Amino acid sequence: MELKLKPFLKWAGGKTQLLVEIEKNLPSNIEELNRYVEPFVGAGALFLFFLENNMFEEYIINDINTKLINLYKVIRDNKQEFIICISELREKYLNKSEVEREKFFYSIRNAFNKECDNITQAAYMVFLNKTCFNGLFRENSKGEFNVPFGRYKNPSFIDEELIETLSDLLNQKDKYGNFKVKILNQPFQEMREYIDMDSFIYCDPPYRPVTIGGFNSYNKSSFNDDSQKALAEFYKFADKKGSKIMLSNSDPKNLDLEDEFFDDLYRDFNIQRVLAKRRINSNAKGRGEITELLITNY
Ligand SMILES: C[S@@+](CC[C@H](N)C(=O)[O-])C[C@H]1O[C@@H](n2cnc3c(N)ncnc32)[C@H](O)[C@@H]1O
Repeated sequence: MELKLKPFLKWAGGKTQLLVEIEKNLPSNIEELNRYVEPFVGAGALFLFFLENNMFEEYIINDINTKLINLYKVIRDNKQEFIICISELREKYLNKSEVEREKFFYSIRNAFNKECDNITQAAYMVFLNKTCFNGLFRENSKGEFNVPFGRYKNPSFIDEELIETLSDLLNQKDKYGNFKVKILNQPFQEMREYIDMDSFIYCDPPYRPVTIGGFNSYNKSSFNDDSQKALAEFYKFADKKGSKIMLSNSDPKNLDLEDEFFDDLYRDFNIQRVLAKRRINSNAKGRGEITELLITNY
């Protein structure tokens, strides 16, 4: 699987690393399916792959992170203004000494946490993602982004050509004049209305931590075991509707061979354990090769 449209953000759990395994496990009749649904899109590695290869007639992408979804919409609707805004931020940042860069980072973080217009907010989001520690997105209980400065010598910021291409792809219309890509900002349960036997659904939820204190908090409400159980209900609903559905998750057996949490929840489906390299993990020892789960209903 060759990915020309590289994800434009660093994102915890980003799937670029796992794409080869995912590709091997796609439904054999994928070319007959018309709709792609991704309820936890994040930086959208798999979505971008399908989009650039024109695999589906219609795409429904969703994430609960409002600022992330704003970014997708700004790239679609305001690409020129967005590119100017992010280029100005990059210029200002790169012309500063290291001490001044850190101060600048915190001033942008403050501004991002206050009201600002959509284009500015989208540019701030990318700026912070590229300059903060490990590209994390974490908010405190007040919903304020609180990741500290990352001290990168030469952060990549944004590839303008990639934004232009992505914007064009997001602007594609169907024969009725509607966008081919629907961009939604809802809890995953609300996606039920978009699911039918013509859909391929890929669920990549926040992972169940494999290290104690492992990273699974993307915003103020963290995704706990009850959320994982609710997602299993959603999965079964999609199965009954006749959709093809794939879900990835961490494998608790990396830490505890007796842990049957996902094996129990998805016992009626195909559970595969594939090798993966975890990129964001609070425990440096947790960075080596571990297995992850790929669960399919086909
Ligand atoms: C593992 S990441 C997805 C990574 C993505 N596959 C990629 O390649 O970048 C999980 C995403 O789920 C989102 N999320 C968390 N809770 C959610 C919920 N209840 N409903 C919908 N999205 C949620 C987070 O904001 C995060 O972007």
